[in-house]
Amino acid sequence: MLVHTKLSAVFIVMIMFSQAHSDLVRLEDDNINGFITTVIGVCKGYDDKQSCQNLLLELKRVSSSLSEMRCRDLLIIVLKNSVWRIDMAMISVMEDTKLLEKMENDMLGVKEDTNLFEEMMESAKDRMIRSVEELLGGESLNLGSYENVHTWLSGVLTSYITCIDGIGEGAYKRRVEPELEDLISRAKVALAIFISISPRDDTELKSVVSNGPSWLSNVDKEYLYLNPEVLKKIADVVVAKDGSGKYNTVNAAIAAAPKYNRKRFVIYIKTGVYDEIVRIESTKANLTLIGDGQDSTIITGNLSCNDGKSTFHTATIASNGNGFMGIDMCFRNTAGPTKGPAVALRVSGDMSVIYRCRIEGYQDALYPHRDRQFYRECFITGTVDFICGNAAAVF
Ligand SMILES: *[C@@H]1O[C@H](CO)[C@@H](O)[C@H](O)[C@H]1NC(C)=O
Ligand SMILES: *[C@@H]1O[C@H](CO)[C@@H](O)[C@H](O)[C@H]1NC(C)=O
Repeated sequence: MLVHTKLSAVFIVMIMFSQAHSDLVRLEDDNINGFITTVIGVCKGYDDKQSCQNLLLELKRVSSSLSEMRCRDLLIIVLKNSVWRIDMAMISVMEDTKLLEKMENDMLGVKEDTNLFEEMMESAKDRMIRSVEELLGGESLNLGSYENVHTWLSGVLTSYITCIDGIGEGAYKRRVEPELEDLISRAKVALAIFISISPRDDTELKSVVSNGPSWLSNVDKEYLYLNPEVLKKIADVVVAKDGSGKYNTVNAAIAAAPKYNRKRFVIYIKTGVYDEIVRIESTKANLTLIGDGQDSTIITGNLSCNDGKSTFHTATIASNGNGFMGIDMCFRNTAGPTKGPAVALRVSGDMSVIYRCRIEGYQDALYPHRDRQFYRECFITGTVDFICGNAAAVF
C-alpha cells in the first residue's frame, strides 16, 4: 500500500511536470504543489530550464518532504548531493584510470590530468561543504554569509571549468568530460537557487574602503600595513640564498609551514633570485611571504603552454591557500613572448592579498583564478591577456 502511494505520487509529479513544461505560468497560478512551484520559480531565470527542472525533480527521490521545503533547504540538499556525486565520480574515474594508464603511451600526461582533476574536485567539495555550513548558520543570514556562499559557489563552477579547459585531449578527457558536464549543471542550478534567495545588494562597490575590502579582517590589515622591517623581524622563518636563514629555498620554507593554520605564518625571503616553481597547497592557510622589495626578492620560472603545460600548470608560483599574502617581492615568468600562456603568479585561494609586488611575464602573466582577491600598489607587465581569470579581484 505504501509503495503504491509513493508510486502514484511520483506519477503525478511527472504528469504535472510535462504540463509545467508546456505552460509554466498557468501551473504557477494554480499552485498545486509547493515543490513544483519552487522548482519552476528557481529555474525561471536559468537558461536551460529543462535540465534545471530535471535535476531538481531528481531530488524528489532523495527527500520525501520536499513540497514543504524552503529554497535554502533545497540548496543545501543540492549541494550535499553534488558532494556525493563528486565522490562517486572520483571513485569511478580512478578505477578507469588504472586501465587507462596501461593503454596510454603518454603516462606523464595522464598523471598530470589526474592531479588536476583531483585537485579541482577537492577544492569544489571544500567550497560546497563550507557553503552548507554557512547556510546552516542561522535563521537569518547576514550579508557577509551571502557574500561567502556566492564566492564559493562561483569558485565551484570555476574549478570544474578549469578542469575541462586544462585536461589534454585524449581518453582521459573523454572519460571525465560527461562527469564534469553533469557537475557543471548542478553547480549552475545551485547558483540559480542561491540567486533566488539572495538579497539584492549594491553594497559590493561600497565595501572597498580605502584600506582594503570588507572581507579583510582587522588582524590581517594590521599585518598588511605593519612597517615591513617590523614584519621581517617577527617572521616565523627566514629564507636566504647565502645560508643566513633557516632555509635556502622558498619551497622548503613553505613545506615547513603548519597546516590549517589559524594564525598568520610569516616567511621572510631575503634578497635574491629564486629559480623555483613554487606551489602553496590549500592546506597552507594564512601564509605571508614578504621579500626585500619588488626589485630584490625575485621568484622566477619559465614554464609555458608551448612546452606542453596547461595554463593552470605554467605558474611560477601558485597559491591555493586561503588568506595568502604576498608583500614586497617579484613573481616572474621568463618563457618569452612566443611561448603562449606562461603564468608568473596564479592565485586560487580565497581572501588573498598581493601588496607592493611586481608581476612580470608575457601572455597570461597574472592569473587571479577564483574567489576574492585584493591587489594594491603592484606593477604588472605582460603582452597578451596579461591579467586573466575568474576571481572577484579588486585592483
Ligand atoms: C585564518 O586565520 C583566521 C583567524 O585569523 C581564521 O579565522 C581562519 O579560519 C584561518 N583560516 C584557516 C583556513 O584556517
Ligand atoms: C628554464 O628554466 C630551467 C630551470 O631553471 C633552465 O634549466 C632552462 O635552461 C630554462 N630554459 C630556458 C629556455 O631558458
